[in-house]
Order: sequence, then C-alpha cells, then structure tokens
Amino acid sequence: MENTNVKVTVLANGPLMVEGTIAVVKVDGTTEVKEPKAFLCRCGHSANKPYCDGAHKKNNFIG
Ligand code: FES
Repeated sequence: MENTNVKVTVLANGPLMVEGTIAVVKVDGTTEVKEPKAFLCRCGHSANKPYCDGAHKKNNFIG
C-alpha cells in the first residue's frame, strides 16, 4: 500500500488522530486498513490497542 497523504494530529489529553488511508500491522502479523481516519491510543489504558477506546478520559490522561 502506498501512503501519499496522511496527517497525524495529537489530541490534547487523548489519542493520535490519523487522517488518510493507513495500514496497521498488528503483533500477529495481520494488516488492517483504516480510512478515512483512525484514533490511536497514546495513554496506554485502551483495551483495544492500538486503537483508542475512550479509556483516557476515565483515567484522566494528561498529555
Ligand atoms: S488515548 Fe484513548 S484510550 Fe488511550
């Protein structure tokens, strides 16, 4: 897959918002294509890593 136009935005006290078409290669080697956007956890509390599941809010993530 060729990425030519992907934007990553750090959301205050929340996830990374990735806009565009991306390929997420998981630990088991499978690849999942996400578009038009994906939210990637950066707080470490998501039960659905690498994606954000909103757990940053109840854990009061600051960053
Ligand atoms: S950033 Fe949302 S659950 Fe981690």
